[in-house]
Amino acid sequence: MRAIQIDRFGTPDVLRLVDVGPPESGTGEVVVRSVATSINPVDDKTREGAIGEGTPPLPMTLGWDLSGVVVDGGDSGLRAGERVIAMSHQLSSGRGTWAELVALPAQAVAVAPQSVGPVEAATLPLPGLTAVQTLDWLALSAGERLLITGAAGAVGGLALQIARAHGVEVDALVSRDAQTAFARAHGADRVVTDPAAVRERGYDAVFDTYGAFLTEAVVDGGRYASIATQAGPVPDLSARGVRTTVHQVREDGAGLAELAGLVDRGAVRLRMESAYGIGEARAAHEHFRRGGLTGKIALTF
Ligand SMILES: NC(=O)c1ccc[n+]([C@@H]2O[C@H](COP(=O)([O-])OP(=O)(O)OC[C@H]3O[C@@H](n4cnc5c(N)ncnc54)[C@H](OP(=O)(O)O)[C@@H]3O)[C@@H](O)[C@H]2O)c1
Repeated sequence: MRAIQIDRFGTPDVLRLVDVGPPESGTGEVVVRSVATSINPVDDKTREGAIGEGTPPLPMTLGWDLSGVVVDGGDSGLRAGERVIAMSHQLSSGRGTWAELVALPAQAVAVAPQSVGPVEAATLPLPGLTAVQTLDWLALSAGERLLITGAAGAVGGLALQIARAHGVEVDALVSRDAQTAFARAHGADRVVTDPAAVRERGYDAVFDTYGAFLTEAVVDGGRYASIATQAGPVPDLSARGVRTTVHQVREDGAGLAELAGLVDRGAVRLRMESAYGIGEARAAHEHFRRGGLTGKIALTF
C-alpha cells in the first residue's frame, strides 16, 4: 500500500511516496481505508526535525488526521464500509495516517459527520479534538467570557465556534485584518489584531493557540490554557488564583463523535483551503509553509 514517509529530516523534498506492507491490527483495533487526511503544524515540525526528543524512529509515516471507510471493525461495533474519522497520536505511537490502510485503537475512531464529504471531514480530527479537550479543561459556562488568541487558525476557529455553540461570550485576537471578518462571522464579539488592545482582567478564561501569554487578560481566579507546546509553560499565575495548563491533545473517539454532532447540527463549519492528491504531498507541504491560509490543506488517496 502507498504511504508518505520520511527517512531523514528536512524540507518538503524529504517526503517520499513509498510502497509498504499493510498494518498489522491488534486486539481492540479497527482497520480503516483512508480517503483523505490533512496537514497540521505538527507534521511540518516533525518533517523538519523540530520536535526533538520523542520523535518516532526513521523511517516514519507522517500524519494525524484520518477520514475513511472501515475495512475491519474488529469487535468495535463499527461495520465494514462505515464512514469514520480518527486521530492518531503519531508522535507517541509512530502510527501515521498518511497511508492507504491505518490500524488504530477503536477508542480513537468515530462515525464521520454525515453532512460533509470525507475530504472536508479529514480537516476536523486533530484541531477539533484540541479545541474540545482544551475547552473541557477551561470548563466555561454559558455567559462566561473567553479570549481566544489565533482565533482564525485551525484550532482557534473551531474553538470559537464550539464555545459559541455553548453560549460562551468570545472575543478574538487574530494576526491580520483579513481574519477579522471570519472571527466576527463566527460569533466573536470584539476582534482585535493588536495584543495591546486586549482587555486587561477582561476574561474568565483564555485559550491561547500560539503562546501569546496575555496573562493580564484573565481575571483573578480564572483559567489560562495554551496549546503552544513549543512556547513552553504558561507563567505561574497561582498567586492570582489562576489555573494554567499547556494542553496536549489525546486520541478520543468520544470527542470526535461530539464534534461530528456539532458539524451535523450546523454549529461548526469546516474550512478547506485546498486538496492535493497523495502523490502531491511535497507541493501540499510547500503550500502549507507559505502560510496566509484561510482553511486546511487536505491530502486525498
Ligand atoms: N498541544 C497540542 O496538543 C496541540 C494540538 C494542535 C495544535 N497545536 C499547536 O497549536 C498551534 C496552532 O495550531 P493550528 O493548527 O491552529 O495552527 P494554524 O491553523 O496555523 O493557526 C494558528 C493561528 O494563529 C495565528 N497567529 C500566529 N502567530 C500569531 C501572532 N503573533 N499574533 C496573532 N495571531 C497569530 C495564525 O495567523 P497567520 O495565519 O496569520 O499566521 C493562525 O491564524 C500550532 O503551533 C500547533 O502545533 C498543539
